[in-house]
Amino acid sequence: MNLTVIGAGYVGLVTGTCFAEMGNKVYCVDVDEDKINNLKKGIIPIYEPHLATMVIDNQAKNNLFFTTDLKEALDNTNIIFIAVGTPQNAGGSVNLSFVYDVAKQIAGIISKDSLIVTKSTVPVGTGFEIKKIINENKINDVNIEIASNPEFLKEGVAIEDCMRPDRVIIGTEDEKSAEILKELYRPFVSNHDRFIFMDVKSAEMTKYVANAMLATKISFMNEIANICECTGANIQSVRLGIGSDKRIGYKFIYAGCGYGGSCFPKDIKGLINTSVEKGYIPKILSMVDEVNEVQKMVIIDKITSKFGNDLSNLTFAVWGLSFKPQTDDVRNAPSITIIGELLKRGTKIRAYDPKAIESFKREIDDENITFTKSKYDALDDADALILITEWKEFRSLDLDELSKRLNQKIIFDGRNIYSKRIEEEGFELFQIGC
Ligand SMILES: NC(=O)c1ccc[n+]([C@@H]2O[C@H](COP(=O)([O-])OP(=O)(O)OC[C@H]3O[C@@H](n4cnc5c(N)ncnc54)[C@H](O)[C@@H]3O)[C@@H](O)[C@H]2O)c1
Repeated sequence: MNLTVIGAGYVGLVTGTCFAEMGNKVYCVDVDEDKINNLKKGIIPIYEPHLATMVIDNQAKNNLFFTTDLKEALDNTNIIFIAVGTPQNAGGSVNLSFVYDVAKQIAGIISKDSLIVTKSTVPVGTGFEIKKIINENKINDVNIEIASNPEFLKEGVAIEDCMRPDRVIIGTEDEKSAEILKELYRPFVSNHDRFIFMDVKSAEMTKYVANAMLATKISFMNEIANICECTGANIQSVRLGIGSDKRIGYKFIYAGCGYGGSCFPKDIKGLINTSVEKGYIPKILSMVDEVNEVQKMVIIDKITSKFGNDLSNLTFAVWGLSFKPQTDDVRNAPSITIIGELLKRGTKIRAYDPKAIESFKREIDDENITFTKSKYDALDDADALILITEWKEFRSLDLDELSKRLNQKIIFDGRNIYSKRIEEEGFELFQIGC
């Protein structure tokens, strides 16, 4: 099949590349000229395991093309995926301007009957609005069908998620569009049927509800962790105790210093906003969001309990800046809130992350932050270590190295990855809920 994917970001680039890997011809279109020029040269704008090789291979096979020229792409294809960003507006509503701009651009170019598939996460009803915009502005007499095919990939394991999806949600208005998408995805789900067909609005809603459910599990566990701390119970034991119940399960029940990323925070707020707009005030979702905002500050509370409110003469080593391991994405990462708060209080930061230093610098580049080349360099003359993101390389500690380099043997473990046993070596360990 010949496809266009509009938006070569985390989602568009990964899914476009995976479609190409299955032998389709894919045009990836982006407005960012530098990004497209680099992609043509095989320079990948994001860190995502296995992506670079696949992009290079599929370009060489003439299955994957990068362009800023939407017309070139649409002239060669009749299935068009929209994968541009849907960031959060100041009040929490979803910014659909990129999606609607794309719809207008398509209308001004499209010259053959096409299927327009929304992959971006968009509020219920957006697909119909896209269709309306295209039909009202199209310059040629063509027939447009729409579909919603939300993306569930997880950054860090995005290629695997795309190549072997848990499920493929296909929301359409007509049988033919559903068949086209089924055929496109067939190679990805060949071992057993993972298609779930539904109407467009339900597909749009499914994406938000999946993220809302996962965020709810995290905020729930964070709240329980805080209750554990007040009562002397240990969240780690409680987690194991409840996870063993098959109805609950072990996944997504880890307490920590809050969820972040480009999806959960904005999608929860987006769903709240949609709901309020339609006249329903959601109670659980609002609390999920509120608990998460407060949770990002729990580490700061622990730091001030230990060092007092004046942190101005202190230096902290920070391990982990990305919102989760295996990605360079720092959008809405707890590291931004925690480091931002420490800087406000006049501390110095020595930060290390395996992949996210450059993207973090684009968010905060302060003279009081030193970015280091290794995790141990970050410890030099620091008064404590703060672990924010649980990259694998942080899991095992060389306690001799820590003792030599840190001024004080203190660790704030925002992801509960360290064992209390290190306290026997003279370390003070502060964790979440235990
Ligand atoms: N990142 C994730 O893990 C993830 C997972 C599932 C769903 N989503 C959703 O997918 C969508 C895309 O997210 P992302 O993380 O890939 O965003 P992103 O910001 O990484 O990429 C968006 C890309 O769209 C491009 N763009 C903007 N306007 C354009 C236009 N008019 N024409 C062509 N390109 C244009 C931008 O230049 C950018 O490269 C969002 O709705 C997001 O919520 C993201």
